[in-house]
Amino acid sequence: MKRKIAILGATGSIGTSTLDLIERAPERFEVIALTAGTDAEGLANAARRTRAKLAVIADQSRLAELEARLAGTDCRAATGAEALNEAASGEADWVMAAIVGCAGLVPVMAALEAGRTVALANKEALVSAGALMTDAATRHGATLLPVDSEHNAIFQCLAGSRRDDVSKLILTASGGPFRTTSEADIRAATPEQAVAHPNWTMGAKISVDSASLMNKGLELIEAHFLFGLPPERIEVLIHPQSVVHSLVEYIDGSVLAQLGSPDMRVPIAYALAWPERMPTPAERLDLASIGSLEFEQPDLQRFPALRIARQALVQGGAAPTILNAANEIAVASFLGGQIGFTEIASLVEQAIERAVAGAPSSIEDVIQVDLETRRAVSELIEARCH
Ligand SMILES: NC(=O)c1ccc[n+]([C@@H]2O[C@H](COP(=O)([O-])OP(=O)(O)OC[C@H]3O[C@@H](n4cnc5c(N)ncnc54)[C@H](OP(=O)(O)O)[C@@H]3O)[C@@H](O)[C@H]2O)c1
Repeated sequence: MKRKIAILGATGSIGTSTLDLIERAPERFEVIALTAGTDAEGLANAARRTRAKLAVIADQSRLAELEARLAGTDCRAATGAEALNEAASGEADWVMAAIVGCAGLVPVMAALEAGRTVALANKEALVSAGALMTDAATRHGATLLPVDSEHNAIFQCLAGSRRDDVSKLILTASGGPFRTTSEADIRAATPEQAVAHPNWTMGAKISVDSASLMNKGLELIEAHFLFGLPPERIEVLIHPQSVVHSLVEYIDGSVLAQLGSPDMRVPIAYALAWPERMPTPAERLDLASIGSLEFEQPDLQRFPALRIARQALVQGGAAPTILNAANEIAVASFLGGQIGFTEIASLVEQAIERAVAGAPSSIEDVIQVDLETRRAVSELIEARCH
């Protein structure tokens, strides 16, 4: 039986890598639904190639273009929240959640509530609504498979083990493009410098998050919700080569790691074929030519975002939701040239300091906190710009 696939965010970096793997193995997969934000051309091309049945574009003004580009096919073009939820929870049994940001939360919840297998790349959704998402997965018999390379590595290292035997998780981080940059030069960093990741090719938002180490902070929160360990048993280790994707330490002192070349098709393939494996075109690891692997402690002075994210996780309540929303607005403003690079972390910290809300008890609560935070941080940015 072919696995029936939906890809939320099919035109992005993760979405196109997922399509690449699926198109190499048509005997294993059938594409049911694809979605995009604004890229009607990319979405229509992917839908034509894969013979998808449903293509959903979030930007309503692009629906006519999508319809025109899909003319003569059996693929239905649609827009709107209902159509997005239909893509996530309809005929497909395996859903790639690869929309960037909290915009992916509602369709991911729809997929979980429909009991689907959800391959989760969209870490912002889990950071914003971690307990609600994992609770929905448990109640509806859904499966959450981590796609982030670090969490996928941990998932692989945990296979077949008892959770009580784990002493800690170690998330590796490349350190990003500013790993060796002085504090003064980081302050003057441009968007072009920030998105130029040394090892991975990714969308703009996650590239900026990697440069500030906020990405690792989001991943710390993601690991907490995915694997159920308290913050003090999840560590971060800088590893510039991005070969060791993460590690698990067990109570007997054994440490298991997952290694591979930095190619997202490896963790995506693990989730696509799970519980089996499938071939990928990823470059094979040649450890002899790499020679040595380096590790160092993160510098929380130059990269305060990691400290702020850990604090938000320890604080709990609405703090992770606020952290994520504030970061999304600050990163978009940095990419738009309105604020400097180091202002991202300071705006996020200010937003969390103002937090009064308790833990959101529903997705509607999460959306409310998210919107209020976006408004408050936008006002702070406006005030700075005048
Ligand atoms: N890239 C990586 O290597 C990587 C690794 C680990 C985790 N992740 C996570 O995976 C997610 C996707 O990252 P990415 O790098 O693939 O991002 P990306 O290249 O920017 O792609 C984002 C996707 O989401 C769609 N989208 C954007 N805004 C939307 C909205 N408001 N409503 C509906 N769809 C929207 C985009 O459509 P358009 O193309 O039409 O704009 C695109 O398909 C993020 O959460 C990221 O943290 C990525």
